[in-house]
Amino acid sequence: MSQTSSDDASADGGGPREFAFLVIGSGLAGMHYALRVADHGEVAIITKRQGSDSATDWAQGGIAAVVSPDDSFDDHVADTMNAGAGLCHEDTVRFVVERGPDAIDALRKNGVEFDAAPDPGGGEYDLTREGGHTRRRILHRKDATGREIERSLLARVRAHPRIHLFEDHCAIDLITATRVGRNETNRALGAYVLEASTGEVFAYTAPITMLATGGAGKVYLYTSNPDVASGDGMAMAYRAGATLANMEFMQFHPTCLFHPQAKSFLISEAVRGEGGILCRSGGEPFMQDYHEMRDLAPRDVVARAIDSELKRSGDDHVVLDITHKDPSFVRGRFPTIFERCLKYGLDITRDPIPVVPAAHYCCGGVRTDMKGESDLPNLFAAGEVTSTGLHGANRLASNSLLEALVFADVAATESIARLAAVAPPGPVPEWRHGEATPIHEAVVITQNWDEIRRFMWNYVGIVRSDRRLSRAQHRIEMLREEINEYYWNFRVTPPLIELRNLATVAELVIKSAAFRHESRGLHFNLDHPERDDERFGRDTLIQRGDSPWISPS
Ligand code: SIN
Repeated sequence: MSQTSSDDASADGGGPREFAFLVIGSGLAGMHYALRVADHGEVAIITKRQGSDSATDWAQGGIAAVVSPDDSFDDHVADTMNAGAGLCHEDTVRFVVERGPDAIDALRKNGVEFDAAPDPGGGEYDLTREGGHTRRRILHRKDATGREIERSLLARVRAHPRIHLFEDHCAIDLITATRVGRNETNRALGAYVLEASTGEVFAYTAPITMLATGGAGKVYLYTSNPDVASGDGMAMAYRAGATLANMEFMQFHPTCLFHPQAKSFLISEAVRGEGGILCRSGGEPFMQDYHEMRDLAPRDVVARAIDSELKRSGDDHVVLDITHKDPSFVRGRFPTIFERCLKYGLDITRDPIPVVPAAHYCCGGVRTDMKGESDLPNLFAAGEVTSTGLHGANRLASNSLLEALVFADVAATESIARLAAVAPPGPVPEWRHGEATPIHEAVVITQNWDEIRRFMWNYVGIVRSDRRLSRAQHRIEMLREEINEYYWNFRVTPPLIELRNLATVAELVIKSAAFRHESRGLHFNLDHPERDDERFGRDTLIQRGDSPWISPS
C-alpha cells in the first residue's frame, strides 16, 4: 500500500536530477520559455509523449496580433473584452495585445514563417478573420499554424546544448517545501516524474518550475484536443495548493468534423472567416437567427446556436458550406482540412462539411500574475494551463498562442532575474512505490475515463442546469474515491496519472459551474439564464480544501 514521497519512507525510487529550470510541457509556452532561459542555466523539459505531442501542434487557425495599419490595439482590446463577457482583466488584455507585434518577431527569429500577403500593398502578412474579430488580424501558416510553430521551436530545443528534453516522461506531482530557512513558506521545488520506459520515478528539482502542460479537453467525450490534454498541470497545481480560476468556462469549438472515423478533427474557424456558412441539413443558413455577426459571432454564441438547432431538429450534425468559393482557393488555403476530409470521402470544394461542437479550450486554469507566476512561489505557468485574465468568460479566437508566448516571455525574464536569489531546492524525499503492485486490470482505468467524459459531456456541457450539475457532482465524488484507492494501491502508470488528473479537473469544473448561479460567456445554466454582474461579475477562484468563491477584485 501507498506511494509516497514522505521523509520517513525508505527509498526505492531513483535519485534527484537537478536543473536551474524545470519546464513541464513541450508546446509553444514551454519551448519558448526554455529557449529564453537556457543561456542562464541547465533546463529540463519534461513531456509525457513525444516532443511534438502538444495542442500547439494541432492549432490550425493562427495567432492574433495587431500588425496591419488598418487595425489598432484598441480594437483588438475591445474585441477581446467583448468576447470575454465582462470577466476579462483589462490590464492583462492591454498588456498582451500591445506585445503582439514583438511576439510575432520573436517567433520569426525562431524560424517560424507566416503566409505573406498576396498583394504587398496590403501589408506584410496574409491576415485572416475568425469569430468575434472585427478586423482581419490573424497571422497563419495555411491551416497548420501550430505545426509550423512546433516544428521550428522543437528543432531549436533539440539542438540546444543546455536544454534536456525528456520525452515519455510523465510528471506526477509537484514537489513543494513548507519551510524555507526561518520562514514558513510554501514554494515549488520541482516535480516527481515517471519514466514510462522503466516505470521508475525520479525527483526533478529546480529553483524555478514552469508549468506549460496545456488544457483539459479530454475531460469531455468530444473534443478537438490531442490525447495529451488531460489537465495535468491544473490538477498538479491544485494539489500543490495553488489557486485556480474560472474553471467553469470551457470553450466548445462550434465546428469539429462529424464522421465516425474522424476523432477530434477541427474544421478551423478560418473556414467561416473566409466565407464558410453554417446551414441546416436541408441547406438553409441559420446564424442570422442568432446574432448580427452571423457565422462570425463569438464562439459561445455559435456553439449554442448549433446545439439549439440540433436539439430542435433531432439531427446529429449541421453542415459548414464553403462550396461557393473558388475550389483552388479552398485547396490552397486549407490544405490540411481538404486532405483530411478527402480521406473520409468528402471533397469540401463540392460537399458541405458535417460538423458538431466539441470541447476545445479551457479559459480557466492556474491563476497567474503579470509576471506569469502562480501564488505558489517559484511556480510559473503559461499557456492554456493558466488563467491570466485575458480570456474572461470566453476566449477570442486565436488569442491563445499570443497569450502563451507573451506570458512565457515575461515569466522567462522574471525567472532569469530571480534565479540568483532563490535557494536551490537541496535534497528532497525520494519517491517510493511502497507495496503498490502493478495494475492488473487496465479496464478499470478505461471504464472510469469513459464514464467521466460521458457525464461531463451530458451534464456539464454547452447547456447546463442545476440538476445536471448536481448529478455530475454526485458521480465525480464516487469516482474520486475509486480512483484514489486505485492510485494508492497500484504502481503509477501514465494512464493512471492522467485519469487521476482528469477526475480532479472534472471536479473543479463541476464545482465552479455549480457555484456560478448566472449565465455568461461559455457558462450557460437553464436555471439561471441571466447575467448577474453584482454577484458574479468577477472570477471564480478555487483552492484545495475550499469551496469556490468569487474573487474580491
Ligand atoms: C480554429 O482554427 O478555429 C481554432 C483557433 C482557436 O481556437 O483559436
